[in-house]
Amino acid sequence: MKTILITGGAGFIGSHVIRRFVKKYPDYKIVNLDNLTYAGNLANLRDVEKAPNYEFVRADITAGELMKALFKKYRFDGVIHLAAESHVDRSISSPMEFIYANIVGTVNLLNAARTVWEDFSEKRFYHISTDEVYGSLGATGFFYENTSYDPRSPYSASKASSDHLVRAYFHTYGLPTVISNCSNNYGPFQFPEKLIPLAIHNIKNNKLIPVYGKGENIRDWLYVEDHAVAIDQIYHEGKIGDTYNIGGHNEWKNIDLIHLLCEIMDRKLKRSAGTSKNLITYVKDRAGHDLRYAIDSGKIQKELGWKPSLQFAEGLEKTVEWYLANEEWMKNVTSGDYQKYYEHQYTKR
Ligand code: NAD
Ligand code: DAU
Repeated sequence: MKTILITGGAGFIGSHVIRRFVKKYPDYKIVNLDNLTYAGNLANLRDVEKAPNYEFVRADITAGELMKALFKKYRFDGVIHLAAESHVDRSISSPMEFIYANIVGTVNLLNAARTVWEDFSEKRFYHISTDEVYGSLGATGFFYENTSYDPRSPYSASKASSDHLVRAYFHTYGLPTVISNCSNNYGPFQFPEKLIPLAIHNIKNNKLIPVYGKGENIRDWLYVEDHAVAIDQIYHEGKIGDTYNIGGHNEWKNIDLIHLLCEIMDRKLKRSAGTSKNLITYVKDRAGHDLRYAIDSGKIQKELGWKPSLQFAEGLEKTVEWYLANEEWMKNVTSGDYQKYYEHQYTKR
C-alpha cells in the first residue's frame, strides 16, 4: 500500500483532491496534513473522513523538525503539496504569514523529503502552484510553461519563491519534483473571501457586491474538480522535473462574471430580474491589481490528454446550487472573525 501525503487537504482545492484520491485509490493511504487556518475546515471532508484509507494529521508545515519526524513515521511514497496562504488581499495586509507558510513551509517539506527518503526512485514531490507567478498580461497573449516569472503581489512572490526552491531541489539534489501552475478555481467549499463565493454570500444576504476598480480585470476560471483531475493525472503521469500549466480557456472580465452570477442568483432565489445587479458597488481597487491572467494549457492537453470538462455557465450554476443547499456550511465559516475581516465598509470609488 502506498502512502501519499497531501498537504492543505482541509482547504478548498485540497479537499477535492483528497476526496478524489480516497475514493478512487483504495490501495493508497492518504494522509491529510493541515494546521486548520481560517481557510481549513474539516467539514469539507465529512463524506470521506471515516474511510479506512484516510487519516488526518493536524500539523504546521512551518515546523521543520516535525515534518521530518512525520516523514519518518509515515514513510510517505509521494507528496502533493497544496498547503499555503492563498488569498491575495490578505497577502497585501499581512505578507509575513505568506513568507512563513508558502516559502519556509515548502522548504521544510523539501528538506524532509530530501533527508528522510533514502532512495528517490519511485518517489514524487508534486508542488501545486498558481498562474499568478507569471505576472500580469495585457489585452492579448497567454502564459506558457516557459513564460518568465514576474510576480507582483506578496502572495504571488511567495508562490514564485516556492516554485524556484522546488526546481532548485530537483537540479541540486535530484529530488523527483513536478510543478503545476493553475488559473482561478471555483466551485463548492471555497472560502467566501474569493470573488465567486463572496458574491454569492452577499447576494443571498442582500449585501453589496464589492467590485474592485472598474471591474475590468480578467481571470481564467476553472471548475475545481477539473483541477483535481489534472492533479491526479500529473501526479501519476507527469514527467519528473517538468512544469504543467492548467487553465480553463475561460476568460471573464470580473464585471461580466458578476452580471452572469446575478442573473443565476435572481433565478435561483426567485427574485425579479435585475434585483441582484442593484447590489453591485464599485470599490477602491486592490493595490497592484493584476489586469489579466490567461493560461495556455496546450502542454497538458497534448501530453496527458487532460482538458476541462465543464462549460462555465454549467459550473457556475452547479456552484450556486451547492452554496444555496449548504447554508449551514456557509453559516459556520462566516461566524466569528469573518465579520471583522470581510464585512467591513468598502470605500466607494
Ligand atoms: P485554501 O486557502 O482554501 O486552503 C489552504 C489550506 O492550507 C487550508 O486548509 C489551510 O489550513 C492550509 N494551510 C495554510 N497554511 C498552513 C500551514 N502553515 N501548515 C499546514 N497547513 C496550512 O487554498 P486553495 O485555494 O485550496 O489553494 C490550494 C493551493 O492551490 C495553494 O497552494 C494555492 O496557491 C494553489 N492555487 C490555488 C488556486 C485558486 O484559485 N484557489 C489556483 C491555483 C493554485
Ligand atoms: O489565478 C490563480 C489565483 O486565483 C490563485 O493562485 C489564488 O490563490 C486565488 O485566490 C485566485 O486569486 P485572485 O486574486 O484572482 O482571486 P480573487 O477571488 O481574490 O479575485 C478574483 C478577481 O476579482 C480579482 O481580479 C479581484 C476581483 N475581486 C475580488 C474580490 C474578493 C473583486 O472585484 N471584488 C472582491 O471582493
